[in-house]
Amino acid sequence: MALSTSSGKSLFPSFLYLLLLVLVSLFTFLVFNQFDYSQSSEADSTAVYAAPDSNFTHVWTAPSDWRMMYLKSEEKELVVYGRELIAHTSEYLGPKGSVKAISNGMNCQNCHLNAGTQPWGNNYFAVQSTYPKFRARSGAIEDQVKRVNDCFERSLNGQALAAESKEMRAILAYIKWLGTDVKKGKSPKGSGIFKLKGLKRAIDPTKGAEVYASKCQSCHQADGSGVLAENGESYTYPPLWGPHSYNHGAGLYRMSNFAGYVKYNMPLGANYEKPQLSDEEAWDLAAYVNSMPRPGKDLSKDWPNIAKKPFDHPFGPYADPFTEEQHKYGPYKPIKAWAEKHK
Ligand code: HEC
Ligand code: HEC
Repeated sequence: MALSTSSGKSLFPSFLYLLLLVLVSLFTFLVFNQFDYSQSSEADSTAVYAAPDSNFTHVWTAPSDWRMMYLKSEEKELVVYGRELIAHTSEYLGPKGSVKAISNGMNCQNCHLNAGTQPWGNNYFAVQSTYPKFRARSGAIEDQVKRVNDCFERSLNGQALAAESKEMRAILAYIKWLGTDVKKGKSPKGSGIFKLKGLKRAIDPTKGAEVYASKCQSCHQADGSGVLAENGESYTYPPLWGPHSYNHGAGLYRMSNFAGYVKYNMPLGANYEKPQLSDEEAWDLAAYVNSMPRPGKDLSKDWPNIAKKPFDHPFGPYADPFTEEQHKYGPYKPIKAWAEKHK
């Protein structure tokens, strides 16, 4: 083996040299890669955090329609009818409704956007998974029939739908369908209404009126009455106050619900990824719209335990020393702090 003995000495150092080269290049690769990486992540992070509201991932969505083929045909028919009732309530159950005249002409979908499937658009994702549940407003365990009728009697300022009616069964079948993949007891990300951070100051109807004139009035009108569709049966732009709007007992009459709803859904076209209102604008709009006249409701049986009234429930008596005025318009921070201390 002449080769190995004669060139052994010169092969060894060149092997070391090669090893060194590999190590050096590995080192530079790592350093540059590191450098590069930190550069690009910095660039990404400014892109992402410049608009924190678009930084939502893994937001829940409704099951796709094609999966309905796994339902029994009667069940599927109910689900589809239920969705139709949510989207076009007034055609069936409004003042000129083809089934029964029991509500004010609004559609459930006016507030539960895209038939209750829009993330943070007051969707129904967590209804099947969390009902029946105890609700402090009634002081009782409520099932879905009761909850749906709450909206008929308050949000649609109308009358309850019989539990055994085809319409109620259809609405419940649709709600069940939307909850198909949601585990019992869970509220998936994007459920219901967004909880907007509170302001330090009291919310301000005067400021809200200015925002309303520039960003809402074109559709909902200066007198808040909305615009009826040509058939006169439903609204192109639903009313925000006045005789045809939701009543004092409705969920949207609470400032936090109104502010959270409009922040991620109004003006029309805004959503959680492209909000158009600042937090202050959303709160001040709530103050303005909910200071205008609307139908009343006997609320004497609500909140049997007054200590459970939410901070923004505007009707006394209260367990705390704050006025109705402060409960309605804030500042809410002292009210929440008091409640925290007296738990
Ligand atoms: C004027 C707006 C408005 C209309 C119209 C409306 N709702 Fe609601 N609904 C709300 C608000 C706001 C809430 C949440 C209230 C809360 O959390 O305090 C709600 C809550 C609900 C819930 C419970 C959701 C949950 O996750 O707990 C159901 C079910 C429901 N509505 C069904 C309906 C049905 C069915 C209709 C039509 C017959 C309807 N709503 C019409 C505003 C409305
Ligand atoms: C381009 C027209 C348009 C503008 C502008 C607009 N909205 Fe709406 N708004 C609608 C429509 C349409 C609906 C019903 C959505 C549906 O049925 O899918 C609605 C629904 C609502 C609802 C729930 C239903 C009700 O009548 O109570 C509220 C609250 C609301 N809008 C508040 C506002 C506020 C506050 C502004 C201003 C920031 C605003 N909207 C601007 C078109 C508009």
